Amino acid sequence: MLSKEQQDQYRRDGYLVIRGFKDAAAIAALRQRALQIVDDFDPAEGSAIFTTRNQAAASDDWFLGSDNTVRCFFEEAAFAADGTLNQAKALSINKIGHAMHDLDPVFGAFARDPRLAAIARDIGLLDAKVWQSQYIFKQPGIGGEVRWHQDATFFDTTPVSVTTFWFALEEATVANGCLWVQPGGHTGPMRERFVRDGDALSMEQLDDMPWPDNSVAVPLEAQAGDLVIFHGLLPHYSAPNTSPVSRHAFTLHATDGTSSYSKRNWIQRDAALPVRGFE
Ligand code: FE2
Repeated sequence: MLSKEQQDQYRRDGYLVIRGFKDAAAIAALRQRALQIVDDFDPAEGSAIFTTRNQAAASDDWFLGSDNTVRCFFEEAAFAADGTLNQAKALSINKIGHAMHDLDPVFGAFARDPRLAAIARDIGLLDAKVWQSQYIFKQPGIGGEVRWHQDATFFDTTPVSVTTFWFALEEATVANGCLWVQPGGHTGPMRERFVRDGDALSMEQLDDMPWPDNSVAVPLEAQAGDLVIFHGLLPHYSAPNTSPVSRHAFTLHATDGTSSYSKRNWIQRDAALPVRGFE
């Protein structure tokens, strides 16, 4: 699936952009399904968490229970001081996560793509396991910043294997919060590890190497349908969306089944929902 040049580029830079990977029909189907999920979502289920005194604990519960389900998460800036939404529900959701690719037929059809299986093999995943799907809205005006991080922080395996498949579902620009990456930064150490111990979540500091200066970051502007693949150790961030247009994207995170997946990762699959590959 990938040329020698693309494979070399991925190894050198830690990322690769494939233009026009998904067609307009596939994108439209995913977008429509995501909006339906949001429409069906009762904010009383999830938004109550922002208005109770036990906000942090309740939102952790909502988050922790989403590894084997499909749940909507609000944008932090979506709420007024009194806990009501400042804009329509459909414009208030930060993301949907985290098991749509295994539980929803439309998402499943998008994620189970033989070309993705081939790409995964080409970049060295011998036995790809797709742990997570996220539909990210990056809403106009309130879409929040995601600071510098490495995705391996959230999917610890030995050796490091997690790979991100990031699909633009709309045009992504510097104005609406596209990805920024540090080319070649995947050769650096893993800085942090996000761990779950029972119901407690914490971030462990592993290496004090600082995050790159923003001046070395490269923006990955993209058109709807473009696919960005990047290495789990590649430092990346996205700026807040201060523009009037949304920046929908869909991501899949896959590890190599031949590596060992940490029992401390927050996503652990129930026996009824075993982790699967791209096929
Ligand atoms: Fe990330």
